[in-house]
Amino acid sequence: MTRPRAGVTALGVYAPPKVVSNHDLEKIMDTSDEWITTRTGIKRRHVAADDEYTSDLAFRAVEDLVRRHGEAALEGVDLVLVATNTPDALFPSTAALVQAKFGLKAAAFDLLAACPGWLYALSVAQAYVQSGQARRVLAIGAEALTKVMNWEDRATAVLFGDGAGAVVVEAVPDAYGLRSLIIGADGNGGGLLHLGSVGRCLPDGTRLSDKLHMNGREVFKFAVRVMNTATIEAVEKAGLNADDISLFVPHQANLRIIEAARERLGLASDRVIVTVDEYGNNSTASIPLALAHALDAGRIAPGDHLLLVSFGAGLTWASAVLTWGPWTAPTPSPIPVPSA
Ligand code: ACO
Repeated sequence: MTRPRAGVTALGVYAPPKVVSNHDLEKIMDTSDEWITTRTGIKRRHVAADDEYTSDLAFRAVEDLVRRHGEAALEGVDLVLVATNTPDALFPSTAALVQAKFGLKAAAFDLLAACPGWLYALSVAQAYVQSGQARRVLAIGAEALTKVMNWEDRATAVLFGDGAGAVVVEAVPDAYGLRSLIIGADGNGGGLLHLGSVGRCLPDGTRLSDKLHMNGREVFKFAVRVMNTATIEAVEKAGLNADDISLFVPHQANLRIIEAARERLGLASDRVIVTVDEYGNNSTASIPLALAHALDAGRIAPGDHLLLVSFGAGLTWASAVLTWGPWTAPTPSPIPVPSA
């Protein structure tokens, strides 16, 4: 029996309305708009309010999904997955909080794979749908990373923001859906990017703290390398060429990393979506938010082959070719994008 193809049939996103610009950061640390812009492409980031946590952001993204697609989009959801690095609590899971909030008759668990976590969640959703264990899976990426920033570390604090994105994954006609999905990890690089929890150090002796720590230079080299290999692998596994890709939707961490991957793929600059200027790196939320921007701008049509790729702590990576549709574009969403 051939397995059904799994695809994305609904999408919703949320970015907190509070915006912190590079000029705002100049007032609290030794940095400059010029440095941040040239090194990263980031101009501002959306930041959760003091009393706003990852579950709140996830709820808002699901509400946006319902607003765009109607209540029926959540019917038959058997599993809720939340990919996050910043859960409200280790338990209960943020996914269980979403399940309760929307009254879903569904299993629920969180998934931690750093920034590629949302793509990891898509791969779990795909497996559940293809095996018949779930009719529909609600796969969310939600992040309140600014709450775990070390504001004394200017090389890291300027990079991150908060946000959330939610999709419904279910069986779709064979012409649409996920044509390839690759996930990978190399835990030997764990010390390059870490955030402590109940342990005090990693097996290699790296001391942990309750603030995010990153060796930016080494992560940069890893990112450029893995964005190249993972994108090429996803395109080949889908049986396509780079020319067939309508839109490149990479993890939004750094414009230089995105541009290096785009050039390596030989894609014109109008075939990549860039939102890092607006949001900074909001980890698991970055690809769904970028998808929403592209959709709302009319840059994605049913049948388009989208190339998705991400990298992050672990070290981890993931890539996919997703053929959009068959659903038509949802109502444009007023994603809050205040002027600078
Ligand atoms: N403002 C001004 N100067 C700064 C700042 C800042 N915010 N931060 C660092 N500098 C200075 C440094 O002190 C250094 O000064 P020095 O030469 O006098 O020592 C200089 O700028 C250059 O520092 P580098 O670290 O070499 O800068 P680089 O060009 O490598 O850029 C950056 C740093 C932006 C962090 C880059 O390495 C990067 O983007 N790395 C990848 C990060 C990333 O994508 N992480 C995602 C992880 S996803 C996840 O799982 C969470």
